[in-house]
Amino acid sequence: MSIARTILLRASRSTWLAEQFRRRSFARRAVRRFMPGEDLGSALDAAGTFGASGLGSVVTALGERVSTRAEAEGVRRHYVDVLDAIAARHLPTHVSVKLTHLGLDVDRALCLDSVRALAVHAAATGTMLWVDMEESHYVDATLDLYRAVLAEHPGVGLCLQAYLHRTPGDLESLLAAGASIRLVKGAYREPPEVAFARKADTDAAYLTLARRMLDSAATNQRQVFGTHDLGLLERVRAHAAAQSLPGSAWEVHMLYGVESPAQRALAAGGVSVRVLISYGSHWFPWYVRRLAERPANVWFVVRSLIPRSSSSTLGTTA
Ligand code: FDA
Repeated sequence: MSIARTILLRASRSTWLAEQFRRRSFARRAVRRFMPGEDLGSALDAAGTFGASGLGSVVTALGERVSTRAEAEGVRRHYVDVLDAIAARHLPTHVSVKLTHLGLDVDRALCLDSVRALAVHAAATGTMLWVDMEESHYVDATLDLYRAVLAEHPGVGLCLQAYLHRTPGDLESLLAAGASIRLVKGAYREPPEVAFARKADTDAAYLTLARRMLDSAATNQRQVFGTHDLGLLERVRAHAAAQSLPGSAWEVHMLYGVESPAQRALAAGGVSVRVLISYGSHWFPWYVRRLAERPANVWFVVRSLIPRSSSSTLGTTA
């Protein structure tokens, strides 16, 4: 892991820095590169715009590691409203949640109850619920909870991280259970006994796992590749073609504001693409993880310090 990435991922856990950044208008300007706005309305407006040009979307409210029951219950109520709003606006939009946002650290039974309730509501409103994967010490609890929900609601999907040494085993057991998987590389700072330290090893693991997912596409629900690595996606596409899989057998999910031209080009080429749109005021840890994914992004923060009139390219996407 590069020094810049290590420093940024450490900083992402600082509550002091979070408070400083949230108060600064330059930081709020910089974060707009990765989110259309802090409110749900902005996220759903963006989802509507993507929908009109043939791109699906996934929305997620920013927040993680809540520490009280009341906060966790508030997040659950919020997501019920989100599902209702998606249905009311007829948007081609899924919802993705973090378990620690729904109270995993507070009360696991409460968290399970909330995911079950959201799965029921997602099915009733004709959309899909995804569960994100957080730091490695949450993986066992996340898998246990997900398996319990999957047994009752086969439409719910789970994120798996290619950088974890354990993921090939987890993938096999989840494929056997008929899970929908969104494969990503992994965004957190993990020790080498838990995750690959070298990016090249993570990339190689991703390709092996992606091929394994495609090989089981006939019997499984939904195979999603959450990455902006266009070379890797080309190899995924080649493997799908070699298996004679139709374009509908797999999907690509990318983040709002990252590789936007590639998102449109993939969709125009017949690949099913969804854009993950985040919103909310608790953006600091999530935003710094985006900086860590491409430390050159720090320059966008620096440029945000320059007033708008002198920085005409501010906000352009990669
Ligand atoms: P990689 O890091 O190799 O980047 C490939 C290329 O994409 C780079 O060269 C650069 O051009 C571009 N790029 C990537 N990130 C960028 C950025 N932030 N800004 C600008 N350009 C960028 N992680 C996790 O641990 N748990 C989760 O639940 C999720 N969920 C999730 C959902 C979706 C839809 C996506 C796309 C990603 C996640 N992630 C995640 C994050 C994921 O683990 C990973 O950190 C990022 O996707 C970056 O890795 P890439 O696969 O894009 O490859």
